[in-house]
Amino acid sequence: MYPLNRNRRLRSSSSMRNLLQEYHLTPNDFIVPLFVVEGKKLKEAIPSMPGYFRLSLDLIASKAVSLWKQDLKAVLLFVKVAQELKDNTGNEAINPNGLMQKAIKTIKNAVPEMIVMTDVALDPYSSFGHDGIVKEGKIVNDPTLAVLSEMALSHAQAGADVIAPSDMMDGRVLAIRNQLEEAHFHDTIIMSYSAKYASAFYGPFRDALDSAPGFGDKKTYQMDFGNRGEALIEIQHDIKEGADIIMVKPGLAYLDIIRDLKNTIQTPIAAYQVSGEYAMLKAASAQGWVDHDQLMLEQLLCFKRAGAQLIATYFAEEAVKLI
Ligand code: PBG
Repeated sequence: MYPLNRNRRLRSSSSMRNLLQEYHLTPNDFIVPLFVVEGKKLKEAIPSMPGYFRLSLDLIASKAVSLWKQDLKAVLLFVKVAQELKDNTGNEAINPNGLMQKAIKTIKNAVPEMIVMTDVALDPYSSFGHDGIVKEGKIVNDPTLAVLSEMALSHAQAGADVIAPSDMMDGRVLAIRNQLEEAHFHDTIIMSYSAKYASAFYGPFRDALDSAPGFGDKKTYQMDFGNRGEALIEIQHDIKEGADIIMVKPGLAYLDIIRDLKNTIQTPIAAYQVSGEYAMLKAASAQGWVDHDQLMLEQLLCFKRAGAQLIATYFAEEAVKLI
């Protein structure tokens, strides 16, 4: 009680504040998303993601080397698939010589210790832009599981360390885990996008990969952002089905979900600060309305405070330069 308690005492100098700070950022917090495109020497700008690029395989190798030098130890791969390779069942997704499979090998050759994570969902491969197979205007769950698990296995065979299913089909973690076990990939990690909400924050990402849904939206499989308890149900299922790490997505507007999970489970939690969050900070700071670096570091640290152990973020490289 005032004046016996003066809370400002502990904030009186920067040394004191440093001593007492509970959460910190380190390069080990970050997962770097990378967009891969077919071709040579291509560094393609993404208009809605200023400062972020799609890179061809040759540039992906040098990117991995440069990330490693900055102490960044994990990448999460996404591919932009040529229109003529897209179909309803994601045949190209399981091509052992597909772009994703080549990208995994390229990075593992360039930097063997780099943790390579891969997105597993049909959307970049789907002629409908959906995460699962479409039948009569519906995204069908069970037939999709077979393709997703084949896809996961082909990533593991190419050398991926972590499979990250982002599709939100029911039972995908179990299907993938069984497939990996059968093929003796006992050590492949599954990082499940367990609490993934149907969100308008993904807009710029869909520009980057040309993967926007061709009809309707993703609300029959991704979660309703009006719900909180559902996130717990999803993660409990995924953990039982064999997920090693679970993910909450989008990030900043969903910190309550991260904290709910952190208070309930011991499984490591990853957060995904998604493309729309990146675009918003880039746009506002370009106008001079907010301080880019300060706000970036504040947001990233808030993920840690909420309970995330890992943060997938397009800001990783910019952040490590400042911490
Ligand atoms: C694919 C996938 C998406 C993102 C990651 N994996 C898009 C979507 O579900 O529509 C979004 C990432 C971002 O916005 O940065 N299923």
